[in-house]
Amino acid sequence: MTQGDGDKHDGFLGAVYDSKSTDDVAALYDKWAETYDAEMAQAGYRHPTICLALLSRHLPQGSAPLLDAGAGTGLIGEWLQIMGYPQVEALDISAGMLKVAEKKGCYSALHVLALGGTLPFAGNSFGGVISAGVFTSGHVGAEGLDELIRITRPGGVIVLTVKNTLWEAGFAARIAELESQGLVARAEETAPYVSMPGETGTTPSRGLVLRVC
Ligand SMILES: C[S@@+](CC[C@H](N)C(=O)[O-])C[C@H]1O[C@@H](n2cnc3c(N)ncnc32)[C@H](O)[C@@H]1O
Repeated sequence: MTQGDGDKHDGFLGAVYDSKSTDDVAALYDKWAETYDAEMAQAGYRHPTICLALLSRHLPQGSAPLLDAGAGTGLIGEWLQIMGYPQVEALDISAGMLKVAEKKGCYSALHVLALGGTLPFAGNSFGGVISAGVFTSGHVGAEGLDELIRITRPGGVIVLTVKNTLWEAGFAARIAELESQGLVARAEETAPYVSMPGETGTTPSRGLVLRVC
């Protein structure tokens, strides 16, 4: 997992960015789950919207199944269904977050699993992966990419957001390496943007679309 990067936030947000272990992250999100949607709405949280826009530009409607990796409370799942992606599975380290997601009825399966290690899915299982707000401080680093590539079918895409501090501390180099190995091609990279305009001191992130080769 990644370490905190000095972003200063109050409450659960500050605590999750400063998490020191995956157990800490899961426990904090379990506690945050019930109020997460309202607090992120107040912060003007943009990652889900940007990831959805990128996915719809690079993956045909109906592609299935998709994996929402670090799905949280299902902010993305709700919209994917409306946008014509009929089968979406959710993965998250926090059972509490997935419990809230389950109530929205938008996922065909829920998996309490950690990104960063081996995932229990066969190769080429998914038509695409979407991961908003997960490759960030105190969460998941570039070590989470290899398995997402393995489980995505060639031609499918992985849409993710990456915080600038991670990007500059090896993530960009890892993407370039994966490209030079012919494993992925960068289909799109956004300019850096602030994911929570309502929270002062938020380090910018970028959206990234990787086409699996
Ligand atoms: C900022 S929230 C984003 C949730 C959702 N994608 C959204 O945009 O609302 C980050 C999510 O990543 C999950 N997470 C953190 N570390 C993880 C890991 N190693 N494996 C899987 N999920 C993880 C957290 O439990 C949390 O639900």
